[in-house]
Parts: sequence; C-alpha cells; structure tokens
Amino acid sequence: MIKFETSSVEGTRRIAEAIAGVVDNGDLVTLIGGLGAGKTAFTQGFALALGISDRVTSPTFALANRYEGRLVLNHLDVYRMDGAAESRDLGLDELLEQGVTVIEWADVILSALPDDRLDIAIGFSPGEDPGEASADDRRVLELKPLGRRWSDRVEELAAALADWTVAKDHPLRQASCETTYETARETRETPC
Ligand SMILES: Nc1ncnc2c1ncn2[C@@H]1O[C@H](COP(=O)(O)OP(=O)(O)O)[C@@H](O)[C@H]1O
Ligand SMILES: [Mg+2]
Repeated sequence: MIKFETSSVEGTRRIAEAIAGVVDNGDLVTLIGGLGAGKTAFTQGFALALGISDRVTSPTFALANRYEGRLVLNHLDVYRMDGAAESRDLGLDELLEQGVTVIEWADVILSALPDDRLDIAIGFSPGEDPGEASADDRRVLELKPLGRRWSDRVEELAAALADWTVAKDHPLRQASCETTYETARETRETPC
C-alpha cells in the first residue's frame, strides 16, 4: 500500500498525472471514495497527462465516456449501478482491451472486476485544526496495486510517486505552484 496526502485539488491531480505516466493499454484503475472526495478531479489530472484535451466530466449519467489521447481512456462512474450483476451490461472485458480504464465508485461492482488492478481509495483527511479553512481540501490517497500486472510495476509506480510519498507523521504536503490546472489546458504547461 502506498499512501499520500494532498492539501489541494491540484495536488490530487498531480498524483494522478504521475500515475498516468506508468499506465499502459489494458490497465484498470479504480477510484473508491465518497461524494466529493475527488475521484473526477483525479481523473481530470490523469486524462491531462495522457494528452487528452477534452474536458473530463463525471460520467454519472452516461456511465462510460471515452477519450482519445496518447492512450484511449475509458472513464466510468458506476454509482448508479445496482451491484456487480448489472455491470455485465458495461462490456468491461471489451473496454479493458481498448485502452486504460478508470472506474469511479468501483466498490459497487467490485466482484465483477478483474484481479489485476490498481485500487485507489480517496478519503477526507481531518486537518490538525478542523476549523482551518484549508481543512476541506485535505485528502488521503491510498494505492493498492493488485495482481501480477501491478505487482510487476510497484517499483516503477513508487519511483513515479517518490515526490509525493509521505511518512505517517509527515506534515501534509502543500502544492506550491502557480500554474493552475485550468491554465495548463491552454498553455500545455505542467499544472501543479
Ligand atoms: N485535495 C483535493 N483533492 C480533490 N478534490 C478536492 C481537493 N480539495 C478540494 N477538492 C474539491 O473537491 C471536489 C471534488 O469533486 P469531484 O472530483 O467531482 O468528486 P467525486 O468525483 O469524488 O465525487 C472538487 O470541487 C474539488 O475542487
Ligand atoms: Mg465523480
């Protein structure tokens, strides 16, 4: 398990970008966390790093969106699905063959998912001082590389994320960069 803490949406997007740097066709990344945790924000950073310039929005109603960049990105949100049985309609096997797949609320259909996957849990992190304005922006990301596909890449993944790894007692990292995600879309600079 690799654990990170971020204190801004930009931080979450940066972590997603680093992860996007090690993915390949056929990979599955699951995002598990409550409403507003940052699953779509994560996917936006992930998509940007794959060279996708379309605006990535939550596919809650569409169920699945497809984007083309350096790799094809299948972005799913299965919040409204009624468990794993219903997920058969998604045609997951075919999707997985055609690019990288990111699934928000993957816990809803967990038993239908392949064993090879990168599970990412995004949780709200209480700040040291809950009254602090920035406390709402803190998140903990926990990565679980599962199956052969990912166990073979654990070191590569850890290296890509080295800047973000935090010791348990490390204070939260602050993203300190002027280039916002929105600006980066226009200028193609690396956002923070
Ligand atoms: N550290 C953070 N990581 C991700 N999102 C954050 C963070 N801090 C604040 N936010 C805000 O939380 C919201 C997350 O929304 P979204 O990504 O749509 O959540 P989800 O898809 O998990 O429901 C956004 O408004 C985002 O700006
Ligand atoms: Mg979402």
